[in-house]
Amino acid sequence: MLDLPSRPRRNRNSSVIRDFHRETWLAPQHFILPLFIHAGDTVEPIASMPGCSRLSLPAMLAEVQGAWQEGIRSVVLFPAIADALKTSDGKECYNPNGLVPVAIAQLKARFPELVVVTDVALDPYSSDGHDGVVQNGKILNDRTVEILCLQAVAQARAGADIVAPSDMMDGRIGAIRKALDLEGFTDVLLVSYCAKYASGFYGPFRDALASAPKFGDKKTYQMDPANRREALRELALDEAEGADMVMVKPAGPYLDVILELRRATTLPVVAYQVSGEYAMLKAAAQNGWLDEKKTVLESLLAIRRAGADVILTYYARQAARWLAE
Ligand code: PBG
Repeated sequence: MLDLPSRPRRNRNSSVIRDFHRETWLAPQHFILPLFIHAGDTVEPIASMPGCSRLSLPAMLAEVQGAWQEGIRSVVLFPAIADALKTSDGKECYNPNGLVPVAIAQLKARFPELVVVTDVALDPYSSDGHDGVVQNGKILNDRTVEILCLQAVAQARAGADIVAPSDMMDGRIGAIRKALDLEGFTDVLLVSYCAKYASGFYGPFRDALASAPKFGDKKTYQMDPANRREALRELALDEAEGADMVMVKPAGPYLDVILELRRATTLPVVAYQVSGEYAMLKAAAQNGWLDEKKTVLESLLAIRRAGADVILTYYARQAARWLAE
């Protein structure tokens, strides 16, 4: 027999004992469900994201009804915009009668308690497939921020509870906060995509919205996956500019960045388990290579353990159902 005064396994003796000192929990109220919407009346499955579809507005309402019953209290909207409405300045993004404002109004009328999050960025509306205005192959920062302010105000006016700029332009948090406040929307939260990386894991999302860049890549605005310190620089700016929460994206491959932000800020930290993370888990599960329930819940738990308060995940509804079993 080993002479061991300390045997960590004793603390794992039974589920009751394990639960005494369980450090991290998952619950449906930690999840925000991303929804793809379009102006048509069809429901169009997204090939690279099995189980997700581009929803008509009536289908969106039905989806939210189901999600609400499962305990999901928040959704984030991503619009697929018709090519005919895309321009180089993306001006459809602040059309008060555009798809997103109409969708927000319908959601808030039917589910007043639902927290509606919107994406602030030009890419769904941009004929160039970029998050900003392009001139001579360059993304114009300050011109883009002016348009993002109009977009955020249009979304707030339609009833959005949270606006979430995912574009990574410099100075947009401060500018959007000012624009919202000037219009009287001091209660609308600003959640910054603070550390958003130029990631290959967004591929299926760009399929879903047909929003892939028409030229080049997003490396002059999204962060280099090699960098962690740079996330702290973005955090300091976003905090100073008035962000209410800060996001890390993607989530699973960037747990160290989540932890870094968790330690450096008192703001809530949000993490986005992106389309490629969903697609990997789904594909392996469909092939029978991974146990979907175990691995998905483990992936979400790990994101929470790293320090995320809230998780955007395409698995929100499924995870809520599993947690209720
Ligand atoms: C763009 C945006 C992207 C995602 C959310 N907002 C893609 C991109 O930056 O190219 C990706 C989300 C996902 O992959 O699930 N503003």
